[in-house]
Amino acid sequence: QKSMLGLKDLAREEIEAILARAAYWEQEPSKVNPVLQGKFVANMFFENSTRTRFSFEVAEKRLGAEVLNFSAAASSVQKGESIYDTVRTLESMGIDAGVIRLKPIGVLAELAEKIKVPLINAGDGNNEHPTQALLDLFTMRKHFNSLQGLNVAIVGDVKHSRVARSNYWGLSKLGANVKFCAPPNMKADDLDVPYVTIDEALGADVVMMLRVQLERHESGMIKSAEDYRTHYGLTVERAARIGKHAIIMHPAPVNRNVEIDDELVEHPQSRIFAQMQNGVPIRMAVIERALNG
Ligand code: CP
Repeated sequence: QKSMLGLKDLAREEIEAILARAAYWEQEPSKVNPVLQGKFVANMFFENSTRTRFSFEVAEKRLGAEVLNFSAAASSVQKGESIYDTVRTLESMGIDAGVIRLKPIGVLAELAEKIKVPLINAGDGNNEHPTQALLDLFTMRKHFNSLQGLNVAIVGDVKHSRVARSNYWGLSKLGANVKFCAPPNMKADDLDVPYVTIDEALGADVVMMLRVQLERHESGMIKSAEDYRTHYGLTVERAARIGKHAIIMHPAPVNRNVEIDDELVEHPQSRIFAQMQNGVPIRMAVIERALNG
């Protein structure tokens, strides 16, 4: 039984094994393969989600697990119950694994010390979102075959981005060169990653745009959506300057016409919906690893 808390502390071989298993599940023609029959998995989302929550649920159901969906908004969290007491409650009822998304930083690491069932990080604060990065690595590998020497530019609100952090750890372990591009007030001061200008970022093999996370901003972090787009957005004009071999990525949800122009979301070089599709086999591999080793 193995938790999945982040990619920072995950060995390259473990990442490779998950990507290989996801490739297996992607090829599997049967929609349901009950390798987790009789196992109970709780999806505990203390922060909103569409892609991660539903792709975990699809993945769990495809593996034949019994799925419990916990939503903080309809729970005793509204009466003041703590995150720990909530997770401990579900554990006491006999769940075999928990998928968890949290806003406060550091709580997941504390939970992992106290909770005995494997926990899978579905996004914790601005720290890590490992399954998003794994599906991103999987998406890049499908296009480029290898990540060794690949140049990846991650552009935008790096400071608030758990996606940027997990991608940095995962990509570095697999031999890619990661560069960040961000407005001065959205740089991450906890990571030693080189920063480039938006024009330099357009020369990368992968141009990964990040959502401007308004819900995590102090007031006044951006002047206006239009100003952000002008200086840091992937506009149609800028996209015309990326390599013909390059791909555009974004974890979504997308602020259309802020960090990426509307016309580019389903551009032939965009992999945004492929990323979402790849989330299912990746999460199958991660849940299977958590429960069956
Ligand atoms: N990319 C991602 O984590 O999306 P959700 O917030 O919708 O899960």
